[in-house]
Amino acid sequence: MTDPIRVLHGAPLRSRNTFGVAATAPLLAEVADATALPGLFARSEFAGRAPLVLGGGSNLLFAGDPDVPLLALTGQDVRIVRDEGDMAIVRADAGVAWHGFVMRMLDEGFAGLENLSLIPGTVGAAPIQNIGAYGVEVREFIHAVESFEPATGRVHRFDAAQCAFAYRDSVFKHEPDRFIVTAVEFALPRTPTLKLDYAGIGDELIAMGIASPTPRDVAQAVIAIRRRKLPDPAVLGNAGSFFKNPIVPVAQAEALQAEHPGMPVFRGNGPDTRKLSAAWFIDASGWKGHRDGDAGVAPTHALVLVNHGNASGHELLTLARRIADSVRTRFAVSIEPEPRIVGASW
Ligand code: FAD
Ligand code: EPU
Repeated sequence: MTDPIRVLHGAPLRSRNTFGVAATAPLLAEVADATALPGLFARSEFAGRAPLVLGGGSNLLFAGDPDVPLLALTGQDVRIVRDEGDMAIVRADAGVAWHGFVMRMLDEGFAGLENLSLIPGTVGAAPIQNIGAYGVEVREFIHAVESFEPATGRVHRFDAAQCAFAYRDSVFKHEPDRFIVTAVEFALPRTPTLKLDYAGIGDELIAMGIASPTPRDVAQAVIAIRRRKLPDPAVLGNAGSFFKNPIVPVAQAEALQAEHPGMPVFRGNGPDTRKLSAAWFIDASGWKGHRDGDAGVAPTHALVLVNHGNASGHELLTLARRIADSVRTRFAVSIEPEPRIVGASW
């Protein structure tokens, strides 16, 4: 049997992050089978060290070289663990590519994940920030998260409630690196309940000439919208939205809207809060399309920082801080980064 663990020293990370910034991992382990993790952490190089798990590198910024070991899970198993006819529990290894998983589930007749098409990254990262797009969050379909805790050598299984999911948030974000997500179980229906209310999906389906959409059609509409709005990291390095949309008290949202009638306001996480648009604040502050050397803001979407070629993580972080400062000065609103910043603090 081939060794499920491959250890690399001085591993270049440029092709392992979608910003395409250069960095080096002093130590990186690729692990094809999560049952090998206890053996990995018994090795002296890894023992007692919380590793940083690297998925597709689509939600992190290397602002310096990591000073902890990196761990990449490469297992590719996907299987139905329970089938109840109208729904099934599907378990996927952390290393499975997210978009391919969504397409495969649609092919196999499962609905639910269509609005989350074309999000880069891995299955294992999906619960970390509770990925969301086009009116759907992955928490709606997560049944359980399997994990390994290096500090104790224990396997933990979290049910959905224990994951404490919220907008771009989960228990895993509050204790980064404590748990390695090794697999995720999804509860997927076979009968679709389509969510078409998010801006643009209905219009896209009409433009496609589709009156009675299937989940596959919705996926195609979402893919088309995303391709227009978001730069492809293979062409222009980026990590999607660089900032989270700020959630503020209702009174603050109303005061801002009275002053700026065009400002969009969305539902918050309860009756007392509203979600505002970080993109709108950044756009209104004049940053869209801005460029400092190779670090810039996408011309198609103000929330996306881009690497025009050879920007360093530090240069991108410097630009991000200037943007956040200018939004705070002009609107008295704090915007926080969405990606994990490695090698520097916000
Ligand atoms: P990485 O970037 O490798 O890691 C992100 C964080 O999760 C790190 O802290 C890492 O340590 C941790 N992590 C990763 N895997 C594990 C694991 N197995 N166990 C424990 N911790 C882990 N996000 C959205 O929510 N919605 C969108 O619509 C969206 N659109 C995007 C569009 C583009 C073009 C890009 C580049 C990014 C977009 N993102 C979006 C952000 C990103 O794709 C998601 O957050 C994705 O889930 C990150 O997956 P990853 O495997 O690349 O994680
Ligand atoms: N807007 C501008 N200028 C721009 C872009 C947008 O003013 O350049 C305003 C518009 O008013 C628009 C509003 O911002 O109506 C919202 O824009 P969009 O629908 O593109 O959504 P978003 O809030 O910018 C969020 C997620 C995305 C997700 C989309 C679609 C966050 C931080 N971002 O973006 O997720 O794909 O909604 O659901 O919540 C990501 O997390 O990386 C990501 C791409």
